[in-house]
Amino acid sequence: MATSKFTRRQVLATTSAGTLATVMGWPLISYGKISNISDKLAFKGGNPVRSAPWPSWPVWDSTVEKEIADMYRSGKWYRNTGTFCEEFEEKYAELVGSNYCLATASGTTALIVALHALGVDAGDEVLVSPYTFIATYNAIFMAKALPVFVDTDPETFLLNPKKIEERITDRTTAILPVHIYGLPCDMDAINAVARKHQLKVIEDACQAWSARYKGKNAGVYGDLGCFSFQNSKHLPAGEGGAITGNDEEVMDLCRSYHDCGRKYGSMKSDSRNPIRGGNFRMQHVQALILKSQMKRFEEDARIRESNAAYLDEKLAKIPGIVPHRPVPGADQAAFHMYPFRYIKEEFNNASRDTFIEALRAEGIPGNQGYGKQNNDGLIEEALTSRGYQRLYGKERLDQWREENVLPGNDQLAEEAVTFYQSVLLGTKKDMDDIVNAITKIYTNREQLG
Ligand SMILES: Cc1ncc(COP(=O)(O)O)c(C=O)c1O
Repeated sequence: MATSKFTRRQVLATTSAGTLATVMGWPLISYGKISNISDKLAFKGGNPVRSAPWPSWPVWDSTVEKEIADMYRSGKWYRNTGTFCEEFEEKYAELVGSNYCLATASGTTALIVALHALGVDAGDEVLVSPYTFIATYNAIFMAKALPVFVDTDPETFLLNPKKIEERITDRTTAILPVHIYGLPCDMDAINAVARKHQLKVIEDACQAWSARYKGKNAGVYGDLGCFSFQNSKHLPAGEGGAITGNDEEVMDLCRSYHDCGRKYGSMKSDSRNPIRGGNFRMQHVQALILKSQMKRFEEDARIRESNAAYLDEKLAKIPGIVPHRPVPGADQAAFHMYPFRYIKEEFNNASRDTFIEALRAEGIPGNQGYGKQNNDGLIEEALTSRGYQRLYGKERLDQWREENVLPGNDQLAEEAVTFYQSVLLGTKKDMDDIVNAITKIYTNREQLG
């Protein structure tokens, strides 16, 4: 847990936020008059710290408008005519540092294809992070496999590698760690367990485009990496996804499965019928939008990283605000969200909802993180389905329910607060608004009750 050199007693003894801020070296530049900081909280009718809007997302530019219009007029809209999807694949493989890339219709379809290509089949079990978006475990259900949740380390927000082995059964075939919010997982520890038990590793890097771990990008550490380019993402195209990997045969299988089972590369010499497959193809219009978005991607990533580091430093000094702890070897996070934990005991026992309400009233768009996804209703719907009962049997499904206890994840689901990535594209003064608003709420925490 990040600690402050300032003891709680010292903070409690501080009467004015101006004094507090000066002692702790907080910036109050955006605040104007320091005396305002002890004002009424905005959700109690006081003046908000900020009323200016935050950077919006996505941001378009006109550079590909002509190419999109030309593509439209050519009639070559379908992936297997034209070259824009292939061009994107080459550029994205280069950006991630993988030998190969396959563009897909979405992040969800990337996961579905990757699971299939690595042999995850009906009746298998897949170990997965519970602190994630619904699509991660939905993709496992699409394979008619059983998602088995591995507890989260609330300090890192990520799958706790020490908890993997206790969840392995003789049906486990793969691990699906999620680099949630673009925070890189401890891939060495995860891969070590995978190697020991001969499991495949699929990285859900759908929020982790520029995340780096031990000198390489997320998405190249597992057998395959999956990415999303949905509209909210750092490389947005409305919808879109990609699979990255280094093994040519596995990537040929991905390409085939994503394209109705058509044969690719090494598969062409195989005289058997085409394999099963669906249509999970990207369209050229998506590839063209991605081409334009790639121009701003690296500079945006740099700004987010710098602002996140600034917030980490300032917010960690406020009692009850605990930024995430990077895993050993994490070089850079992508920050799809900027996350921290809110410890209500330091804020007059006010609930996280009340804190977020107070924050929003001050003009800072805070959100809750993910909920207790391991109890998502869709899971019970799957487990009680005829197919799952047939595949796994009552005994295994009852055992799954009994073991579905994740104290680390529960804690995080109750404590997490996040800011959306475009907030991090603001200026340092914008970041000061965040620090000042939380400082103001902390200082006036008796008003939260
Ligand atoms: C962690 C995670 N996995 C998977 C997905 C699915 O991606 P898509 O929405 O592109 O299907 C998302 C998208 O939000 C995600 O955040």
